[in-house]
Order: sequence, then structure tokens, then C-alpha cells
Amino acid sequence: MSPLIAPSILAADFANLQKEVEMLNTSQADFIHVDIMDGVFVPNISFGIPVTQAIKRHAKKPLDVHLMIVEPDRYLEAFKDAGADIISVHYEACPHLHRTLQVIKSLGVKAGVAINPHTSIDFLRDVIQDIDLVCMMSVNPGFGGQKFIENTYSKISRLKDLVLANGANTKIEIDGGVNIQNAPKLITAGADVLVAGSFVFNSPNPVNTIKELKSIPIV
Ligand code: DX5
Ligand code: ZN
Repeated sequence: MSPLIAPSILAADFANLQKEVEMLNTSQADFIHVDIMDGVFVPNISFGIPVTQAIKRHAKKPLDVHLMIVEPDRYLEAFKDAGADIISVHYEACPHLHRTLQVIKSLGVKAGVAINPHTSIDFLRDVIQDIDLVCMMSVNPGFGGQKFIENTYSKISRLKDLVLANGANTKIEIDGGVNIQNAPKLITAGADVLVAGSFVFNSPNPVNTIKELKSIPIV
């Protein structure tokens, strides 16, 4: 078995977005990770609904939309309509997380929950059955190209135990600072999906880099 790879379009050349999406189409990428930042939940603004629609027009891979925004409930339907196949909301932005997850599912989209580095996986215990994907942040959200936080490994193992103990089908996605050095260790710890932004797009041959990540075996 191999990990699922989700290159983050945040690190792409926005002036050549069509070309970048077409490159991902030809690669072994499983998802296209779409980072939405509102300048309030995180100290940076990326892009929003029209750009997501534009990506969707060319994408042949599912869109994995990561909402780093306050009050995500207000925009779930809009991102579904823009082409999201998975929508992850932040635990820290959802006072009624269970309700939010039900709404995402009612739209026919996979429901994800992103957690910041300081957020304990224990807060997911009572909703784990309702979560299709946990987007575990391995950097503080807001920027690409940051340094990987080492505590993530033990957090993945603890989340994996929680998923297995509950017989849940939740996938564990790692987001931030992923590269070919830490990827094998992340997979050993229990990661199913690797997001990689700068490591893929800043490499001389992104298609090859995706292939390298994809070829790490899950044993
Ligand atoms: C961070 C974003 C990440 C980011 C990953 O706020 O959620 O998806 O784009 O980029 P790298 O791989 O460069 O850390
Ligand atoms: Zn992300």
C-alpha cells in the first residue's frame, strides 16, 4: 500500500494556475489540497471561492479544501458548489462541530476536521465516528514553507489508536512541513494522507517528487 498524496496548490505559481493543475493531473497526486485563509482565523489571506472554481474547471483529481476561516458554516455550501470533494473545518473555529460535520455530509461531501498543533486529539474522541478525515496541522496554519513540528509523530500514533479503538474509517492527513525526510516516519506513525506544498512545487521536477512521496511503502 502507498500513502495518499495531496499537493497544496498554495505553493503553486498562481499566474499559471491552469498549467499547475494540469501538471498535478498528470502526476500520481491523489487530491489537490486547497488552502483557504481569511486573514482572521490565520494571519494571512490566500484566495477564495472564484479561484477554487477555476482550479476545479481543470482538475481531474478531487479537491481537498482546508478552510482556515472563522465561521466556516457560512461558506460550506459555497465551497461545495465551487467543487470541493472534501471540506475540512478547524476544530478551533467550530463551537458546534458535530452539527457542522452533519451539514458537510448532507451536502454530499466528505467531512474533515483540522486541528492546530496545540489542540489535543482527545477533543475528537466523541465525534471520531463522524469524521472522514483529520487534517493534523504539523505547523501553525497560515503559511507554506514552515518548519515541521516534531511532536506530530506521537500525536499521529495517539490519533491512530483512537481511530482503531472506535472502529472508525477516519483518515489521518498531515499538513505542514512534509518532505521526503519526515514522510516515512509520518507513515510509520499512522499517517494516511500527506499534504506537501513547497516540497513539491519548489522541487525541480514536481511530478517526480510526488512519485517519490507516493512510493514510500505502508507496511
Ligand atoms: C498551512 C497550510 C498548508 C501549507 C503546506 O497553513 O494549511 O497546507 O500550504 O505547505 P508546506 O508543505 O510548504 O508546509
Ligand atoms: Zn492546508
